[in-house]
Order: sequence, then structure tokens, then C-alpha cells
Amino acid sequence: MAFVYVVFLIILLSASSFVCCTSSQPLPGFLSVCCGCSAPFTDSLNLSWIPDSSYISVGRAFPSLPLRFFPDHHPTRKCYRFPVGNISIALVRPSFAYKNYDGKDRPPVFAVSIGTATVAIVNLSRSDPWVEEFVWKVVGEMLTFCLISVPGSGSPVISSLEVRPIPAGSYGAGFEVLTGSLLRKRYRINCGYQDKGSPIRYPSDYYDRIWDGDQKFHPSLLSGAFHVPIALNISGMKETPPLVVLQTARVLARRDILSYRFPLKKLGNYYLVLYFAGITPLLSSFDVLVNDNVVFFDYQLNQAEASLLTYFAKGIDRLKISFRKVRFYPQVNGIEIYEVLGIPQECSPVTVSALQVIQQSNGFNLGWEDDPCAPTTWSHISCNGNLVTSLELSDVDLRVISPTFGDLINLKKLDLHNTSLTGEIMNLGSLQELEVLNLSFNKLTSFGSEFATMVSLQILDLENNSLEGAVPESLGNLKDLHLLNLENNKLQGVLPQSLNKENLEIRTSGNLCLAFSSSTCNGHGNHTSIETPQFTVIDTKKSSAHMQKAIIIGLVGISCALLLVTVAAVIFWRKRMRKGDLISKTLTEGTAREIKDWCKANLFTYKEIKSATNNFKDVIGNGGFGSVYLGKLSDGKLVAVKVRSDKTQLGAESFINEVHLLSQIRHPNLVYLEGFCYESKQQILVYEHLSLGSLADNLYGSKSKKTTLNWARRLKIAVDAARGLEYLHNGGNARIIHRDVKSSNILLDLDMNAKVADFGLSRQIPLPETSHITTAVKGTAGYLDPEYYDTQQLTEKSDVYSFGVVLLELICGREPLSHAGSPDTYNLVLWAKPYLQASSFEIVDENLKGDFNVESMKKAASVAVRCVEREAAHRPTMAEVLAELKEAYSLHLASSSDIELLH
Ligand SMILES: *[C@@H]1O[C@H](CO)[C@@H](O)[C@H](O)[C@H]1NC(C)=O
Ligand SMILES: *[C@@H]1O[C@H](CO)[C@@H](O)[C@H](O)[C@H]1NC(C)=O
Ligand SMILES: *[C@@H]1O[C@H](CO)[C@@H](O)[C@H](O)[C@H]1NC(C)=O
Ligand SMILES: *[C@@H]1O[C@H](CO)[C@@H](O)[C@H](O)[C@H]1NC(C)=O
Ligand SMILES: *[C@@H]1O[C@H](CO)[C@@H](O)[C@H](O)[C@H]1NC(C)=O
Ligand SMILES: *[C@@H]1O[C@H](CO)[C@@H](O)[C@H](O)[C@H]1NC(C)=O
Ligand SMILES: *[C@@H]1O[C@H](CO)[C@@H](O)[C@H](O)[C@H]1NC(C)=O
Ligand SMILES: *[C@@H]1O[C@H](CO)[C@@H](O)[C@H](O)[C@H]1NC(C)=O
Repeated sequence: MAFVYVVFLIILLSASSFVCCTSSQPLPGFLSVCCGCSAPFTDSLNLSWIPDSSYISVGRAFPSLPLRFFPDHHPTRKCYRFPVGNISIALVRPSFAYKNYDGKDRPPVFAVSIGTATVAIVNLSRSDPWVEEFVWKVVGEMLTFCLISVPGSGSPVISSLEVRPIPAGSYGAGFEVLTGSLLRKRYRINCGYQDKGSPIRYPSDYYDRIWDGDQKFHPSLLSGAFHVPIALNISGMKETPPLVVLQTARVLARRDILSYRFPLKKLGNYYLVLYFAGITPLLSSFDVLVNDNVVFFDYQLNQAEASLLTYFAKGIDRLKISFRKVRFYPQVNGIEIYEVLGIPQECSPVTVSALQVIQQSNGFNLGWEDDPCAPTTWSHISCNGNLVTSLELSDVDLRVISPTFGDLINLKKLDLHNTSLTGEIMNLGSLQELEVLNLSFNKLTSFGSEFATMVSLQILDLENNSLEGAVPESLGNLKDLHLLNLENNKLQGVLPQSLNKENLEIRTSGNLCLAFSSSTCNGHGNHTSIETPQFTVIDTKKSSAHMQKAIIIGLVGISCALLLVTVAAVIFWRKRMRKGDLISKTLTEGTAREIKDWCKANLFTYKEIKSATNNFKDVIGNGGFGSVYLGKLSDGKLVAVKVRSDKTQLGAESFINEVHLLSQIRHPNLVYLEGFCYESKQQILVYEHLSLGSLADNLYGSKSKKTTLNWARRLKIAVDAARGLEYLHNGGNARIIHRDVKSSNILLDLDMNAKVADFGLSRQIPLPETSHITTAVKGTAGYLDPEYYDTQQLTEKSDVYSFGVVLLELICGREPLSHAGSPDTYNLVLWAKPYLQASSFEIVDENLKGDFNVESMKKAASVAVRCVEREAAHRPTMAEVLAELKEAYSLHLASSSDIELLH
């Protein structure tokens, strides 16, 4: 064999004097910073090191190692800033060592960043010291290099940082594969070289890259390591590898494939640079393979020629580079492997400067530096990408909403509660994306004029300010507003009718007087708040031909409600007469007898009711129309006694409806009407008592701590309720729409059988030709069919929608509307639908985790999602819902071993 094996032992200083550089003076732009050092020095390579103190003002020096450590965790980012104005591409090489400098033997873990990119996680228990190297295309004048502490993982430490200019244009393809990318070195090896602890670097590599030997990846015992110091023309390579690297090679003689394997540990995108040089007289001809795929066919290499290949390997977590013989001697001289990291976009300078002004003008030190969003977000803010979407400053002394707040145009949430704000609400009109504005606990006196343009506002909290006068009309134009908190201000007057919306919750207690009524206020408000407004639109007979609508709002507990209620009580009402519609008369004292005639239910006297309820002693519930008391009939039977508020006949229509309907209906899943009482100004319904209370109570309300509703029980409840509703829709002669299906109207008996209650808002549809009836919108926020709401056309599908919401409650174990989480979780339907559609069950009630059969959950979720389709036509019928729920129930039972727990 004619091969000569050459083993390298030493670094050849300035061996590469053919094409490149002859000077041993480092290039301008070399920056070698010694962290924690007290004085400059020159090292054995003749490089000058300087202490880091002129680049950073935080952290503490530990000169004897040396290192700098950062015991303070606030702010989490500690940044060095180095001038790099003259460099186009920089090699950045930080090194970190712990070496138990603090005697605690707890090596820290922390992140490091360059500009806006988090570039590495340093874990010093894995390796100490730890060296990283990055190739970064310089933007701007400064290199910002930060250490980012991880709570509970020790104090970040740094030993040194070197910056080296790299020739412009090198590694170009690596930067082009991803826009705004940065290269993190994983491997840089000099093939055929054995480093024995002294890798090749400056001055052999004029740019001070560090080239390790390849013995760790030693491909094959049969591949020879060559060293042939011949002259090579490398002027075609922007990367300018050192000649000493090219002058060694690994050459395969007697086998077909030469392979290197590199552990990557991390799935990512990798950029490979392979160097070849014809240093032997042998003609090479081979294929190049990456992870066994040929990426270059029949690569040829002639003597004294040098060349390179680059390759971008996307989404790999292991790397094998092979050279497969085509005709002669596969070989390779050098390999560089970089992980390609994306660089997050910077925030707009307007945003950054606005935030800086807010920080400075108020004399805070919030530790806000560099980019607000990346690599980590500043305290008090949140970002979406490079947009600052939330700012939460509370308990500081702002005094005014300065104009710079108006520059934060991407804000979705602004929380300035308890910040001593006074005067007018201003400078926020440009925040058209703002959804949540919390100005509570300030001393603001006026609404200002800018709400008209804050078109995305959903939540406005003005609690405990000093707002005076009337509430501006413009608030009513905010289409998405669903919570308006005006509590504890000095407001008075009429609330604009434009705020009178189904989905808007208004809190008004603690004001002088605030109501939707045009009646004058008497100033004796009871400081209770408006619940979700309930709408009752009653057709009023003005002339025989013309119908006019009067709007009465169900104001329970509103201050000034008394007057309104009196007004309401005198409004005449009438029900449209249709075939099959039995109620046609206005209510009078004598109506009771009439009702009795056609009603199968028991008629009770007021006296009987009084004694049955022990003079209305035990309140077991409160509804929109009055209280519910526990009672005991003379035969010992427990009953729920629902008493209408005696001052009003608001619910008279519903009352008659309910008595009539319920007296006709017998079904095990519908609450049974035992009787009623209708005496002067007394409207009382007596129902069977269901001892476990409502589904809402048991699911997430007062009883939820005591009851465990496992998945089987929930499905059983769903099936029961669906049966009840299906019966209402299809069971009797009349098609009945419940109109207020909700979990608090589904009651449970001692055996957890569910029954649907509260028919007070029900409507019959005359058979058979009518497909819908047009009515005023009634119902409960969160359950309301959006199509019914839009069109006022009521069909059975509206109940299906509401029942879908109940199914979602069963699955997710939460209320339909909840302020508990972030705004995007507020509405159960909007929040849960996409997850369930994707069969992504992470939103399933914590209490159900691990308890449900997945197929059964899929079935139930799918039916729930279809029930809450926006278009009624896409929703299933109640019969279909029932069938599918039964299936889901069976699926679960078939798979579960604890059936006996159920009954
Ligand atoms: C180090 O640099 C000085 C000038 O700065 C030069 O005189 C000296 O020869 C250099 N030493 C080496 C080993 O290159
Ligand atoms: C950039 O180069 C110029 C001249 O080449 C020099 O005067 C200046 O100090 C350099 N700036 C930096 C930041 O190195
Ligand atoms: C750091 O490395 C150690 C040792 O490999 C490992 O046990 C630990 O989980 C790592 N810590 C982190 C945060 O990755
Ligand atoms: C080196 O190669 C380039 C083309 O890549 C050529 O233009 C140049 O003349 C060559 N230089 C020498 C000294 O051969
Ligand atoms: C408001 O902030 C001050 C500090 O500025 C604090 O003392 C006070 O408790 C806060 N009040 C409320 C209601 O949070
Ligand atoms: C406004 O901020 C206060 C104080 O943090 C908080 O109690 C209240 O819930 C917030 N309002 C809204 C609507 O989130
Ligand atoms: C809010 O306002 C009410 C009524 O004005 C007052 O009693 C209460 O102390 C205020 N709360 C705070 C935290 O200022
Ligand atoms: C105000 O509410 C309380 C209970 O919260 C009640 O006792 C009182 O009678 C009410 N006053 C008026 C005027 O309605």
C-alpha cells in the first residue's frame, strides 16, 4: 500500500501563507472580553483581553476564577452591549463556567440571547465549562448579548465573550434559508486531524474559528488521516477556511462508504458546510449522502483543487454524513454543522419609545431595556409576536393617562387600576384593538369623548372612580362590550337605551341613581347591581290592526326598579290568538276559577301554601321572577313553592302558560307540577321537590364540592334532560319550545335522575304548518341561540342550541360565561368549540381526566358542537341529540368497570 499516514500533533502557526494573510496582528474588530476580570491582559495567542466592566453595570465580579454572576432575578434579562458597527458578520463566542465558585455546588441553568433571539439554554450541570459559538449577521451598531435567568435555577454566570469579524458573504446560504436567521455552531471539525486537546484556531484560522479534530466521530478504522501541506487556491471560498484544515483529510481506501455520525439532541434545521481539497494525487469521485439520502451525485475532486458544498437539512434530529465511492476514494477535509435559529422580529420603535417614556416619565425602574417582546417579555406587558398586546400597571402613581399610551396601538388589554388617575379619560382613542380597559380605583371624573373609536372594547371597568353626570350614549355603540362596571361612582340619570343589550352585563350599584327608566330617580337606590338584563317584549294592542312593542326589562334588584315595575304592571298585554292557544283573556281576579276548569293541577289556597312552607321559612332558590321555598304538603310530600313577586304581574303571562302546560304534561324527565295558587296578587306554583338541586349547583356551584359527577353520571343527566326536551318538542299534541334551557333549570332527584324545570318562558307552536313563531327574545345570556337573537324566530333548534351549551358545561365543568380566565375563555361556546372540533380534550373538566372513555367523549363532544352551530339548520334535532347521547352513554358504560357505582 502506497498510503502514507500522517498524524498531526501541533498547530502549524502561519502555515497558510499562500493566499491568505501574512500578519500575526489580529484583525480590527477582534474583541475579547474577560468577565469579572479586574485588569486587561494579553494571552499566549497574543490576543488582548479587556475586563467587562465597561459593557455592563449589573451583576457581580468574581475575579479569581474569573467570572461575573447575576444573583438578582429582576429584571430577568442581564445584557451586555458591544459595538459592532464595522462588522458585517460576527462570530460570537461566549463561555460559561461555574466551577462551584459560590461553594453551593449547584450549577445554574439559564438562557442566553443575541438581539431578540434566544440562542441557547446553558446547563452547567451538563458541562462545565460550557462554550457556545454563533455566527450572526450584524444588524445595527450594537450586539446585545443577554443572560436570562430561569426562576429557581440559580444565578447566571459568564466567563468570557469573544467577538470576531467573519468575511462578508460567508455562510450566505445559511442565512438565506430562514429569513432573519442566526447560526449556532454544533460541530466544526478538521477531518484527519487529531487535536489532542489543542484545536486549530487563531492565528491558523485568521478569523479565530475553533476546529476540533475528528477522532470523536472517527468514521472507520480503514480511513486514513492524511496531511499534505500543498498550496491550494481558495479564493473562491468566502468562508476562507484555514489551509491547515484543508491540508488534512480523511480518505477511504478499501471500503465503499465513509460515514460521520453527529449527535444532535434536538430536532431542528441544520446548515452543513463540507470542505474538500485534492491534497493527494488520487482522483476522488463519490456521492455525498445526508441521513442516507444522496444530496450530491458523483462529486469529483482534482489534485490541488479546493471546493465546498453546503446543504440545508430541515427538521432533523440525527445526522449522518456519508461519502460513498463512485469510482475512487471518498474523502473529506472539513465539516461545519450549524443549527439555524430564527430571529424574532423587533417591536416597532414607536412602541418601544412609548413604553420607555412611560417608564421614565414616572420615575419607575421597571427594568425595561431593549426589545419589549423578545427574547423574553418585559415585566407588566405581554406580547403577541412582536406586538405589545397588554400593559398592566397598577398601584403606581401615574396621575394622568399620558399621550404616549395612545401610541401603543396594538394593545388588547390595558390595566391602569389604582394609578391615581384624575380628570378625563383621554389619549386612548387610537387604541382600536383594545378589548379590556381597567381604570378601576382611580379618581377619574369624566368619560371623555374617545369611547366612540375604541371599537373593540369588550370589558370596561370604571369601578370606584369619581365619574359624574350621565353615561354617554357612545358606549352603546361598542358592539362587543359585554361587561360595563360602573359601580361606586357618582353617576346619575338614564342609562342610554343603546346599552340595553342581551349580552351586556352592566354593574351600577353605588351610584346616585342609574337606570334604564326615564322615570325620575328618587335618590334612594338600594345599591344592588343589575343582573344580566332580561328582556321581555310584549305585544301591546294599540289598535286592532297595528301591533306595537313595548319593552320591559326584567330588572331584578336595580335601584329605582320599584317605579319601573309599577309602570310595567299597568301595561296591558295580550297574547295573539291562534288555534290551539287557550289563553286569551287579560288577567283578572276571576281567572283562577277559569284556569281551574281546564287545569288538572291542584288548586291551593294561600293559607295552605303559607302553612306548607312554614310561613315561607326555607328559601331554596331565587329566580328571575321570585323566590322558591321548601314546603311540605299535608300528606308529607316535599314540594318546591315558587312565589311570584307580589308587586307585579310581569310574569302573569308566563304563570298562566306554565300552569296550563305543566298540567297537561307527564314525563319522568320533566318536573311535575303538584298544584298552584292564584289569589289576589299571589301567583304561586307548587312543584315536586328535587332534593339534589340543580345541575349548575352540582356541577360548579355550591354543591360541587360535595358531589362528584363522573362522566357516566354526566352522560346519564344529559340523556335524561334530552329525553325531557325531546318529549316537549315531539311528545304531546302541542310542540313546546322551552326557551330557557340551562343547567340551573335541570334538577336532580336523590338518585341523580334529571328533570327539566321552569316552563315559564315556554311557547307552543300551533300544529302543524308553522315552522317557527316570532317572539321577543327571552332567555339567559350564555345560552341564547344567536340566530333566534338575530331573527327573533323561535324554533325547537333554539332549545337545541341552549342544550348544546349545557352539554359543553358538562364536558368542561364550567359556566357558559366566566370572567375567571382570560377574555378568550369568557364565552364557553367560542372557547370550547375549536378544541372539541379537533377532538382536543385538554379543556375537559379536570375532574373527568382519566375517567372517561375517549370514544364516548368524542361522540358527546361532537353532538355538543353540532348543537351550538350558529345556523339552526346545521343543528341536529332533539331526537337526534338524544340518540347520540344514548350511544355515547353506552360506549362509556361498555368500557367502564364501575357501572355498579351508578345505580
Ligand atoms: C505579539 O504582538 C507583538 C506586537 O503587538 C509582537 O511584537 C509580537 O511578536 C507578537 N508575538 C507573537 C508570538 O506573535
Ligand atoms: C470602525 O472603523 C473606523 C475606521 O475604519 C474606526 O475609526 C472606528 O473606530 C471603527 N468603529 C468600531 C466600532 O470599531
Ligand atoms: C441540566 O442537566 C442535568 C444533568 O444532565 C439534568 O439533570 C437537568 O435536568 C438539566 N436541567 C435542565 C433545566 O435542563
Ligand atoms: C484561483 O482561482 C480563481 C478562480 O476561482 C482564479 O480566478 C484565480 O486566478 C486563481 N488564482 C491562482 C493563483 O491560481
Ligand atoms: C393602591 O396603591 C397603593 C400604592 O400606590 C396601595 O397602597 C393601595 O393599597 C392600593 N389600593 C388598592 C385598592 O389596591
Ligand atoms: C380590574 O382590576 C381590579 C384590580 O386588579 C380587579 O379586581 C378587577 O377584576 C379588574 N376588572 C376586570 C373587569 O377584570
Ligand atoms: C370603593 O368605593 C366604595 C364606595 O364609594 C368605598 O366604600 C370603598 O372603600 C371603595 N374601595 C376602594 C378600594 O377604594
Ligand atoms: C334594600 O335591600 C335590602 C337587602 O339587600 C332590603 O332589606 C331592603 O328592604 C331594600 N330596600 C329597598 C328600599 O328596597
